[in-house]
Amino acid sequence: MTRKIFLKLFVWVFMLMLLALVMVDFLATSVAQENYIQNLTAQLADKCRMIALTPPGPERFDAATARQLAQAAGGRLTVVRSDGKVLVDSDADAARMENHRVPTRPELMAAFNGDVGTNRRLSATVKVRFLYVAVPVHNGALAVRLAVPLQTVETQVNRLRGKVLASTAIAFLPAVLLAAILARYLSRRFASVTAHAGELARGNFHSRLSGVDDSEFGRLARTLNETAANLEATVEQLRHEHSELEKLERIRKDFVINVSHELRTPLASIQGYTETLIDGAIHDPDHNMRFLGIIRHNAERLARLTSDLLSLSRIEQKRQKFEFDLHPANQLIHDAFDLLRPIAGKSDIRLFEEPAPEDTFVFCDSEAVSQILSNLLDNAIKYTPAGGRITVGARPAGSMVEFFVRDTGIGIPTEDLPRLFERFYRVDKARSRELGGTGLGLSIVKHLVAAHNGTIRVESAPQKGSAFYFTLPVEESGLPQAPAGTGAEVTA
Ligand SMILES: Nc1ncnc2c1ncn2[C@@H]1O[C@H](COP(=O)(O)OP(=O)(O)OP(=O)(O)O)[C@@H](O)[C@H]1O
Ligand SMILES: [Mg+2]
Repeated sequence: MTRKIFLKLFVWVFMLMLLALVMVDFLATSVAQENYIQNLTAQLADKCRMIALTPPGPERFDAATARQLAQAAGGRLTVVRSDGKVLVDSDADAARMENHRVPTRPELMAAFNGDVGTNRRLSATVKVRFLYVAVPVHNGALAVRLAVPLQTVETQVNRLRGKVLASTAIAFLPAVLLAAILARYLSRRFASVTAHAGELARGNFHSRLSGVDDSEFGRLARTLNETAANLEATVEQLRHEHSELEKLERIRKDFVINVSHELRTPLASIQGYTETLIDGAIHDPDHNMRFLGIIRHNAERLARLTSDLLSLSRIEQKRQKFEFDLHPANQLIHDAFDLLRPIAGKSDIRLFEEPAPEDTFVFCDSEAVSQILSNLLDNAIKYTPAGGRITVGARPAGSMVEFFVRDTGIGIPTEDLPRLFERFYRVDKARSRELGGTGLGLSIVKHLVAAHNGTIRVESAPQKGSAFYFTLPVEESGLPQAPAGTGAEVTA
């Protein structure tokens, strides 16, 4: 991949540079050639003028003089009269030469007109390409012409072209090297961007590009990195939402299973004993009252279960109407004691109170707090053997008041503590059911405390006893902001 990009880039740069080199070479040599010919023309014209001044004068040169002068001037010398007759020529016999006043010899035509004439062409006489330069003598009555073979010019130009080529080639080498380095750099950055895009396409959104700078590539890298980060965050969010949904779905399923199970047991018992009574047991004085007692017990259990479920769902869906007001903390504890004292007395359990300072008030719904305290006290009584002690108290804790219910009962194993407040969660299912429990009490307590913006926690050790702590606000500002009756919430 990198190799391919590198080769492409390099070949392109190389070709462009080669083209530039060829053009420079062509331009340089053609300019040099023109320059050289112009100089040569000027020199030949000067020489022609000097020859014209050489005694005995061009009209009287014999062939030997012409040859000597031509040799000295480094060319071929011809003297032509304005009527076209060749008077003398250094390289040919003048007598045998044709009339030279013809348009095919424009240099002579120009000289007869009084100007310096030049022309490049193949000589009809000696069959070589020449540069001709003719100057007028005696106001155009004669023309003195010098000619040099163009081959000398071409040799000079070729020598020059060689030098130009050599020097441009020397300059070309570092340029090629530079192009290779640049192509390598660009191809590597291209390759890293391509590899990064591939990683993203495969779903690896952790991939990041290095080399984030102010160059075009750096900016591209920054944009791609931002895109990857956004994708990563989005995927993470979706994953989180998905697992939350899965969790909620699991809770919902568990709830449905638990509710149907809890309803089925008392219903089956009612159905069974009713059928037994109908089948004749109603006339059996030994059993009929006992069976009716069982039916009543299960009906009561069903009523308690459905009423607990209803109140739980009301609180959860925030449909429960609370009447918040300021209440003395100790009063709330006394009221709960009054409710539970007879039951505690029956079980031979002593109740103690650790009152809060007299001026301790809480901003709460007294019905809800009564339900919280009686649920906790009910548990404490249920799970504390005869002769045990239960202490209830309250103490200010900043903007909250912390209540506690402590017993010397059977305690709760550490591994059960994290799930204790879940609906239907019971440490010992059989025992709880025997005691008439539905496993919803603590869940209701948790939601009621939360409706006051409070928190609940438990400390317990098996055979040592348990202590439940919950907080309530001292003033209105401590209550949740959302108005009651809005939104539904599914929790454990
Ligand atoms: N004070 C406590 N001492 C020991 N175990 C407790 C105490 N309080 C609660 N538990 C344990 O926590 C479980 C859940 O309590 P929760 O009040 O929710 O249900 P329950 O008392 O069994 O039934 P319900 O309160 O609905 O009649 C109980 O079954 C019991 O195992
Ligand atoms: Mg309970």
